[in-house]
Amino acid sequence: MHDKQIFILKRLSKGGFCSGEALGEQLSISRAAVGKHVKALRELGIDIYSVPGRGYTLAKPIKLLCDGDIAARMRQFSTNLPVPLVFDTIDSTNQYLLERLNLNSHTEQASLEPGQACLAEMQTSGRGRRGRQWASPFAANLYFSLYWQLQSGLQGAMGLSLVVGVVVAETLSNLGVGDVQLKWPNDIYVAGKKLGGILVELVGQVGDACDLVVGVGLNVSMPEDAAKQIDQPWTDLSTVISKPVDRNVLAADLLVALEQALVEFDGRGFGQFHRRWQDFDLYMDKPVTLAMGDKRITGICRGVDSVGALLVEQNGRITPYMGGEISVRGRT
Ligand code: BTN
Repeated sequence: MHDKQIFILKRLSKGGFCSGEALGEQLSISRAAVGKHVKALRELGIDIYSVPGRGYTLAKPIKLLCDGDIAARMRQFSTNLPVPLVFDTIDSTNQYLLERLNLNSHTEQASLEPGQACLAEMQTSGRGRRGRQWASPFAANLYFSLYWQLQSGLQGAMGLSLVVGVVVAETLSNLGVGDVQLKWPNDIYVAGKKLGGILVELVGQVGDACDLVVGVGLNVSMPEDAAKQIDQPWTDLSTVISKPVDRNVLAADLLVALEQALVEFDGRGFGQFHRRWQDFDLYMDKPVTLAMGDKRITGICRGVDSVGALLVEQNGRITPYMGGEISVRGRT
């Protein structure tokens, strides 16, 4: 998104009307140029009214992300997390932290401290699992990543992405979202449609502590236009709960809950998350097909085991499956 469009949106998000002339003066552009930027914003799904003699206003108020608001909410809980970094636009919040991590290993002074979160209003190259794109339009949804260090190392990381899913599902349930489900390993569903996803990227060597970036994308109020690139049934929070969602509060609550869960997971493993996962398991006791490259496995899903592997029953025998390249589908 163009800097001038971000400026206009930030100005309108303060509420009330703003004339094309005033915006033009602030941006040193003509009223006609302001009109073109407003048109582009509308095309991105942002509903802007124009009233002759008064100017532009947002049809629905938009509360932008704010590092101070997120940090203030986090401080209400006992957390050691640093103030999050908030960007208007970024390629990918996961990519940003991974690049800083790379700098950590090449410079004497670490440029990133564990617990650092990064959020953005928009991602130009938001990515999902298995090389997919993640629809990331401006100010519509929540996109964030958290840098963490796992003392238990790569070998201890099994089950971690399920833990993140459990945290997101519990936080959404506490917010009042009903029927939250987790699709193994970590897709968030509501009423059978995808609401969000998790991308955990690990950096490290076997036998040592490892660095990881936990990325979370949640659809909050997805514009129809941006949703055209989504190739599966989807939903957003504005569809599934009636009260408005403050993304700053939601981000803070998720980060605090994630910090607690990651500490617990690093110390004691997947154990206590096993039961918590079961509260949300989308495919428990349902017929499923697993895809692993060209290979297909069909059977009945029997939940997950004590390390987070997916259990599938075939001909009376239950086999655990684990791995980033596996995808699961339900069968009717
Ligand atoms: C998936 O379901 O495929 C995972 C989607 C993960 C998307 C989030 S949005 C924030 C973070 N940055 C990214 O580029 N991806 C993750």
